[in-house]
Amino acid sequence: MTRLVILISGRGSNMEALFHAVDAGALPVEFAAVISNRTNAAGLATAAARGITTAVFDHTAFPDRAAFDTALMAEIDRYAPDLVVLAGFMRVLTDAFVTHYAGRLINIHPALLPAFPGLHTHERALAAGVKLHGCTVHFVTPEVDVGPIVIQAAVPVLDDDTPETLAARVLAQEHQIYPQAIRWFAEGRLQITPTGGVRLQPNRPSAVASCVVPALD
Ligand code: GRF
Repeated sequence: MTRLVILISGRGSNMEALFHAVDAGALPVEFAAVISNRTNAAGLATAAARGITTAVFDHTAFPDRAAFDTALMAEIDRYAPDLVVLAGFMRVLTDAFVTHYAGRLINIHPALLPAFPGLHTHERALAAGVKLHGCTVHFVTPEVDVGPIVIQAAVPVLDDDTPETLAARVLAQEHQIYPQAIRWFAEGRLQITPTGGVRLQPNRPSAVASCVVPALD
């Protein structure tokens, strides 16, 4: 069974969507641990109530980003995950961290990448006047919000949208596509191509959890 470690910083609704998908028999994974960089992340209680091991690594207690990421890596690796899932984890990760988990580190971003990387995506989408907005699941690479795209979902932007109404419409789609992407990973169907895309392989009953990362020359 594919083992996940989930990293959160806040409410954890995307994490909960994964729980629901497992409960519905739609996601063949097990949750090894949920780790937060914030002691007050609401998602910690949600995970603990499910009986999942939780841990807090408070980034403010570390001298710098590298020290925090080194400690976080050591903690994650204790659980020997097949996939590390960023679910609202509000930290920029060091190259060392991202390289260590190459091909097994995945993120969900609330915009149709490459449009609107970074923060405040819904406000920026409204300010830009786009008619479509959405969300993206992608493998994580050192440059923030740039890695190989697994799946996207688009929603219309309505004339009377506020950042809040737009965020809610996008979030409903996040809760659909994150379990779908992780299911594909668990089925061993995601192949990162040499050009930095993701190819979805046909479903094979004997597939094992893996992600093929091209060798670097
Ligand atoms: C989501 O919008 C996600 O796309 C972004 O952070 C938010 C986390 O929400 N990375 P939640 O904690 O999963 O509810």
